[in-house]
Amino acid sequence: MTGRPPMPTAAGETRVFVREFVRAPLRTASVVPSSSALARRMIAPLLGPARTSRLPVVVELGPGTGSFTAALREAVPGMRYLGLELNGAMADHLAGRFPGIDLLRGPASSLARALGQRGLPAVDLVVSGLPWQAFAGRAGTELIGTIAGHLAPTGAYTQFTYSWSRWAPPGRRQHRELRRFFGRVDVSPTVWRNVPPAVVYTATLPRPTG
Ligand SMILES: C[S@@+](CC[C@H](N)C(=O)[O-])C[C@H]1O[C@@H](n2cnc3c(N)ncnc32)[C@H](O)[C@@H]1O
Repeated sequence: MTGRPPMPTAAGETRVFVREFVRAPLRTASVVPSSSALARRMIAPLLGPARTSRLPVVVELGPGTGSFTAALREAVPGMRYLGLELNGAMADHLAGRFPGIDLLRGPASSLARALGQRGLPAVDLVVSGLPWQAFAGRAGTELIGTIAGHLAPTGAYTQFTYSWSRWAPPGRRQHRELRRFFGRVDVSPTVWRNVPPAVVYTATLPRPTG
């Protein structure tokens, strides 16, 4: 059979999530995609007054089936987008949903190389749906340093965490690391219209050497 893959549906997205969660719970970290309410919070730095005179460069880490990707594309149609997704099934789904999308099928730790290969300038927004596991240990610290090192001085990094887990040791560590690499870290009110409810960290004023 030839032609495009069938248009992904909300039910199809949930199916992919449930299946991949059963396969790799720590890496997938959720059984359902994020809501549009959470997506709006995650992309909020792009929705304020114009931050640059050019179209923004946006990186998405762990886009999954594309909840935040869809919100980004709707809000800033001409942006330069790069996604990094480790899970092949999620990546296939995303590529079917957004044909022609620039998607690297690999770990977020490939970020510096991927930006270099594409000759992309400083990034205006990094949106991360990555689970705690991706930020564990030294590799996690390096990843936050890499994100800070590739952001424009006016850029922002958004990361969500589920409200119930915010005060657990990995959640506290994540917040501490953000404060180390960024001059400012804002925490949103709880986004109740998400399963489970979540908060969004918005980190600005990057200082790559921590
Ligand atoms: C909680 S889901 C979030 C998906 C989507 N952003 C959303 O909010 O609906 C986490 C996503 O991160 C991906 N992921 C986990 N570890 C990763 C890594 N090291 N590099 C890139 N993607 C990763 C998973 O495959 C999954 O798609």
